[in-house]
Parts: sequence; C-alpha cells; structure tokens
Amino acid sequence: MARARRLGVLTSGGDCPGLNAVIRGVYKSAGQLGYDCIGFQRGYEGLVDPVSYVPLNSRNTAGILSQGGTILGSTNKGRFVAIKGVNERQELDVELLAAVRVTCEQLDLAGLICIGGDGSLAIAQQFHEYGIPVIGVPKTIDNDLSATAYSFGFDSAVACATDALDRLHTTAAAHDRVMVLEVMGRHAGWIALHAGIAGSGDVILIPEIPWTFEHVCDKILDRQRNGKNFTLVVVAEGANLPGGTFVTSERRSKMQQARLGGIGNMVAAEIEQRLGRETRCVVLGHLQRGGAPTAFDRVLATQFGAHAVRLAHQGRFGQMICFHPPRVSSVAIADAVSRLSTVDPSSDAVQAARALGVSFGDSGRAPSPFTITVDESVNEELEVVCAN
Ligand code: F6P
Repeated sequence: MARARRLGVLTSGGDCPGLNAVIRGVYKSAGQLGYDCIGFQRGYEGLVDPVSYVPLNSRNTAGILSQGGTILGSTNKGRFVAIKGVNERQELDVELLAAVRVTCEQLDLAGLICIGGDGSLAIAQQFHEYGIPVIGVPKTIDNDLSATAYSFGFDSAVACATDALDRLHTTAAAHDRVMVLEVMGRHAGWIALHAGIAGSGDVILIPEIPWTFEHVCDKILDRQRNGKNFTLVVVAEGANLPGGTFVTSERRSKMQQARLGGIGNMVAAEIEQRLGRETRCVVLGHLQRGGAPTAFDRVLATQFGAHAVRLAHQGRFGQMICFHPPRVSSVAIADAVSRLSTVDPSSDAVQAARALGVSFGDSGRAPSPFTITVDESVNEELEVVCAN
C-alpha cells in the first residue's frame, strides 16, 4: 500500500506569538516533500467527536507568518488532560485514544504535529505510547521547558514587557512614583528577568529567589537617597510572597491549573503602606501573548515547523523539536515533559543584573569580583581578529 502523504497539525494550550509561523512552516515545507496538510481546530478537541479540521492551502496560510494567535484556534480546557496538578501524570481515557487513532487512520495521516506547552506535550506522549504517530513542537512564552533553550513566543513576550517598562519608566520619572509591573511566568521568572534587564527595572522579583518587602523597600529608599525618586519593580506572577504564599486570582479544582495573578497589586499596596510613597501597579497579562511575533520568534517558529515535517518524513515519531543555539534538533517527548527550566539564581544574567545594582528583593550582592568564565580559546581567536 502506498505510504500516506498527509500530515495533520494542531495548536494546543495557551496561545502565543509564532504559532501561525509554525503552521506556515509545516504547510510549506510539507508541500516541498509532497505532503498535503490538514489543521485540526481547537487543539486536541478537533480530533474527536466532532472531528473538525481544515485543509491547509496557500489561501488560508497566506500572510500568517506575522500574525499572532492561531488560525486553528486552541484551548487549554476540555477532554484531553494528561497532567494533574503539578507534574502528576493523568492517564487519558482509552476510548478517547482509540477515537484519535480512528481519526488519524480515516484521514490517512502519516503523522500528527502537536504544537503545545508542557501539558499538551504530555498528551502527545500518551498518543505516542498508544501508537499514534506524533511529533511535538514546544510552545511557551514562559520559556520553562528544560529540553529546549528557547521556545518561540518567549522573545515576543519579553519584547512586550520591555516596551511596557520603557513606557512606565518615563511616567514613573515624571510623577516620582513607584511602578510595579506584573508579568507572566508561572513557575519560572524568565520573562521578568529578561524584561527587567532590557527595560532597566530596579527590582526584579521571581519565583526562584526568595525575597522580602524590607529589601524591596530598602532599594527604593536607596534610590531616593541617590536622587532617584522613582523606582520600577518587575514581578513575575508566580513569584511567591514572602513566607511562600502563591497568589492566585480564582479558586479552581485540583484538576485545573491555578489561575495566577494579583501579586503585583499586593506588592504595590504593601510598598505604599510601608513607605507612604505613591505606588501603582500594571498587570500586563495577555498582552504578552498577543500580537505579532518578533523576527527572532518568526525564524525559530519557521525552523520548528520545517524540522517537525522532516522528522515526520523520516518516521521519527515521539520526538519533540528543540533548539540549542545554533542547532535545531530533537529529543524524546518523554524526556522533555514535566522537566521545567527555571532561572538559576547564580546564572550570569542574574549576576550581571546584580552587578548593575538591580535588587532581587534579597540580601544578595554580586559576587566580588564579578565572576565571568573566560574561555581562553575564544580570547585567542579574538586577538587574531583584532591583530588583523
Ligand atoms: O503557561 C503560559 C501562561 O502564559 C502562564 O504564564 C499563565 O499563567 C497562563 O499561561 C495563563 O493562562 P490562561 O490564559 O489560561 O489564564
């Protein structure tokens, strides 16, 4: 029997800039290899009862490289749940798995490309174990999947948060205010750290570094003593309050992911109360997930799409695409799910920020002297370049 020449693709979980760029990358590169593509709608839900999909073509993929969102729709709710609470595997219903397999067989799919974050990839892994030919493409603005150095969406989210800080900077300076910006970052403070550095935040609060209000207020007073009457504080939504309390904005059942949000306003209120300084909070929320992807994310997402097709063509199912600059390669999905990448408090980025006087709300100072690992071979190369 002739080998099926059709690939399916779907986008699952919270959306992020770059999803359409992956879909386009899949469609275009699949075409070069002689495959046609169909896109399932509303994530995994589109695979079963009722099966809903659209054939991808040059019309519905035209101009989508720069578009936020996903032309296929997405959901992080519904019948497909493979992670319970934090990292605890939940078995998918066998009837559901069987129905997915029937859909794939009836539509003659050679492979199914699943674009999603940790929870969505955990579902893809169970499909793989059940014999459904899947390839995973990692997606998260939080950049918290350890199997890949970067996922698309992160750079766009950081650009959005940095732009917000640039704007807050001028208005904070004009009014001598403390401004608190709450950014996304459920388990990891990558967005807060990178935007905080890029947008010259004075205080950065992240889940990985325990902090206190005393240290935050000390930094504000310190700046005041140095003639700076305004302060920018960046806080990740998942940064626990001193004492370890996780701030959520809604009560949810144990089976659902907690809805975060609210820590920014709590931080602002406490600063205002302790220092008697006018303090305002901006919650950036889903603005970070919307809009056009940056050029970096377009390039990464396009590569992810093309690489996913290549893997499917080679029959290397059960793999997830990953990026370890400069290489795009893949790892077993099983080795990628439930392994989070968090900010290392002693990383170069944190040390550099501390060296510039940024406070992480703790007593930490930049190690003295500020340590940078020197790779002698790189220096030799540099010397040669300079000498020429
Ligand atoms: O996991 C990505 C993320 O953007 C988190 O940072 C955030 O907590 C969550 O999604 C929000 O999801 P939802 O839109 O479903 O509330």
